[in-house]
Amino acid sequence: MALKISVIGTGYLGATHAACISSLGFDVIGIDTDPSKVALLQKGKVPFFEPDLEELLAKEIATGRLTFSTSFDAIKDADVHFICVGTPQVKDGLAADMTYVNSALEALAPVIKAGSLVVGKSTVPVGTAARLRARLLEVNPGADLAWNPEFLREGFAVDDTLNPNRLVVGVTNDRAEDILKEVYAKNLANGTPWVRADLPTSELVKVAANSFLATKISFINAMAEICEAAGGDVTVLAKAIGYDPRIGSRFLQAGIGFGGGCLPKDIRAFMARAEELGAKQALEFLREVDSINLRARQRVIDLVRKDLSEDLIGKKVAVLGAAFKPDSDDVRDSPALDIAVQIHAAGASVVVHDPKAAGPASKRFPALKFTDDIEECLRDAEIVLHLTEWKMYRELDPGVIKSLVKRAILIDGRNALDRSAWQAAGWRVRALGRTDTNR
Ligand code: UDX
Repeated sequence: MALKISVIGTGYLGATHAACISSLGFDVIGIDTDPSKVALLQKGKVPFFEPDLEELLAKEIATGRLTFSTSFDAIKDADVHFICVGTPQVKDGLAADMTYVNSALEALAPVIKAGSLVVGKSTVPVGTAARLRARLLEVNPGADLAWNPEFLREGFAVDDTLNPNRLVVGVTNDRAEDILKEVYAKNLANGTPWVRADLPTSELVKVAANSFLATKISFINAMAEICEAAGGDVTVLAKAIGYDPRIGSRFLQAGIGFGGGCLPKDIRAFMARAEELGAKQALEFLREVDSINLRARQRVIDLVRKDLSEDLIGKKVAVLGAAFKPDSDDVRDSPALDIAVQIHAAGASVVVHDPKAAGPASKRFPALKFTDDIEECLRDAEIVLHLTEWKMYRELDPGVIKSLVKRAILIDGRNALDRSAWQAAGWRVRALGRTDTNR
């Protein structure tokens, strides 16, 4: 008999995981406490933008294998329960808010059947899995708990889930590992690397990976600061060091830095946890990683003041991009949106365009002006800020846009536009970490 699976929490991670596991042929029930989310998912609709997910979800619902519910009673018969709820940053500190994880465990522990396996996927402070396992065994001695961190990237969530570059399982016994091997049998047959770890190591793998990625981005942004001071070009520097396979060229795109629902909060929660463990000093460098990242936003604002005037009151600023990265409508901790908000607060007349994130962004910052019409965004602008590297912005014709704006000044906050084409069309182009060739 094929395993029956439940997925607790149907946000970004859970909705994707539920649809993907269903596509492997398992019966899956997704649980969320938010009835409106459940109603939407049950209709095959995804409450956020993620390429390929809605199509997959609708297809899986149509097979009858995938259903959603608000009731924990619905998971009674399942054999494996994935916890996929969020762990946002607490409001008054750096740590992760464990409310949703804790309440998911309390809700499922009394109802699940003996022999079933709870599998945490949420990103949690190290030590959580052991604590939750002890609590689970107290309430339901026949059940077990393992950890299986998720490394999916927004914009590639479906592909990353179906074809992960590794599977990491934190287990305390062979039986738990065997159950997870059954869930991921297809990946194992395809040769996906399988790493068995203890519970704390499996939790640490996730935060270590994200800390490394954040460090790589802040490293190149620190080099961008040096290039600006010394008259170098960080894009050439990144290309040159990236040829060394020990360094690698990915995640060396200098610009306004990292945002989103993972990297910023994960490095902060990791620092908070290290301090609790008495190992604060080991992660002091992440504080610097965080501040280099936040400084990149300020450097764009400094450039705007330098190019327009110290006084931004009434100046029209066109902002291209609000999402924290392209192919996503996620604006959580988005550097693009943060810059737009700060320039707006300085008195500028800011108009933000984003092909997908304008809706979620305007919910968060209703005082900012958003438009789906790129011409409206650019018309009469005194400066254009390119802050999220959507493909459509690379396809803009700088000559045509020049006729729309008041002054042809561009700041490329992502080092992703063709600088020489914009310069050839008569634009003054600024970019982080690159010497100005047409001051
Ligand atoms: C990240 C991890 O990559 C993923 O493995 C984990 O599961 C969740 O967190 P995600 O938040 O989707 O995924 O975004 P990612 O693609 O990692 O980008 C994060 C941020 O870094 C974005 O704001 C992006 O614009 C920025 N970035 C990325 C850079 O500024 N430069 C780069 O070279 C790469």
